[in-house]
Amino acid sequence: MTYLAPCYRYNDGTLFVNDVNIKDVAKSHETPFYIYSATQIRQNIRAFKTALNSALDPQNYTICYACKALNNISVMSLIAEQGCGADIVSGGELTRALHANVPPGNIVFSGVGKNDQEIEHALNSKIRQINVESAAELYRIEAIAQRLNITAPVVFRLNPDVKAGAHEKISTGQKENKFGLNAEQVMDLYRYAENSAHIMPRGISLHIGSQLIDMHPYDTAYKIAADFILSLRSEGFTPDTIDLGGGIGIIYDREDAPDLAGYAAIVAKHIAPLGLHMMFEPGRMIVGNAGLLVSRVIYIKETDSKAFLITDAGMNDLMRPALYDSVHPIFEVEKSDSQDTKSFDVVGPVCESSDVFSLDTALSADIAKDDLVAFTGAGAYGATMSSSYNARKIAAEFLVDGDVWKCIKRPITNEDLLQFENYTLKSDD
Ligand code: LLP
Repeated sequence: MTYLAPCYRYNDGTLFVNDVNIKDVAKSHETPFYIYSATQIRQNIRAFKTALNSALDPQNYTICYACKALNNISVMSLIAEQGCGADIVSGGELTRALHANVPPGNIVFSGVGKNDQEIEHALNSKIRQINVESAAELYRIEAIAQRLNITAPVVFRLNPDVKAGAHEKISTGQKENKFGLNAEQVMDLYRYAENSAHIMPRGISLHIGSQLIDMHPYDTAYKIAADFILSLRSEGFTPDTIDLGGGIGIIYDREDAPDLAGYAAIVAKHIAPLGLHMMFEPGRMIVGNAGLLVSRVIYIKETDSKAFLITDAGMNDLMRPALYDSVHPIFEVEKSDSQDTKSFDVVGPVCESSDVFSLDTALSADIAKDDLVAFTGAGAYGATMSSSYNARKIAAEFLVDGDVWKCIKRPITNEDLLQFENYTLKSDD
């Protein structure tokens, strides 16, 4: 049986998100849409905190949710209410974090290409730290801080050259990746920053990759990071922060559950003894299993060799299968009475051969046009990576809390998008 997170269940043969029947939402709203469980998000945060607290003093760490995973403001507020800060990667995400009432003192700014406006916005907002990824960026931050007559708190992103991540496109901690700086570069920039009147170096950060189920790469990378902190100290520097990144994976299909307690033990072994404030930047593990993409069957198409189930959701709504060959198991919202199954390639309507959700998928033999289906594991990097490709609408988003649901984003239609274009209207006659 493929995995279904605890927030979903079949009630009388129909799929529910907590106490909400998906069919009720689909009755009054167009598919495709995203639907998230607030309960599951809270539960995921609790599970992470429980694991960390078994090995660490809660006073000594901050969880900064990586909002690139899902940056809907309602969801970000919910996460902020649980005491989490935010890891942001753009001025847009900074604005969202502030709207979601994330305290600026709990916001960290990551990413290799922050522009001048974004740096100024971050400094004026008094965020906790900017995670610096290059010498050029440090000099820009210094110049902007000097102009504003302030001191910019920074940490330096160390690239530990460790292989990690479920797919090469989500592996970030190897030396050929664009992310971070090697130890020698970080040391040189740290020396420079210590002598700058407008930079306050606070420590280091690292993030090695995403969707990690095996925790061993953290063991290797965190040991390297701890040794590096010792070498900073031996130079007489006094870092107070280590940002340990995100990357912990989730169960999409048949993966093992990531060992959260094992992760916490690795942190306790290498990092906690340093006595620094620890930051964690989980994204996927907070929201990934808490979201479904709900879609309707448009057609069933038979060819000589295949049966295709064509859904009204496409790669523009959920890009992950096309981009990373990722698996998002499909569930029928209403279970068929018959036990007979048939094999389908589940595909979207977008004009690309890569618009495929899954191949050779067993579904009810009597599945038909207009039936509702749900793709699981769609909470992280689903809505945030969607687009209007093929002039398709951007899907609505709903949030369920217990038996209550609300629309937290209306669809962005082609009519909406036309408003931004400059063209002469064709007359009606
Ligand atoms: N911190 C930094 C600096 C990051 O670059 C990332 C993700 C995270 C934290 C959060 O990682 P998480 O805990 O979510 O694994 N679009 C891809 C994932 C890209 C992740 C990029 N960085 C996907 O759909 O799998």
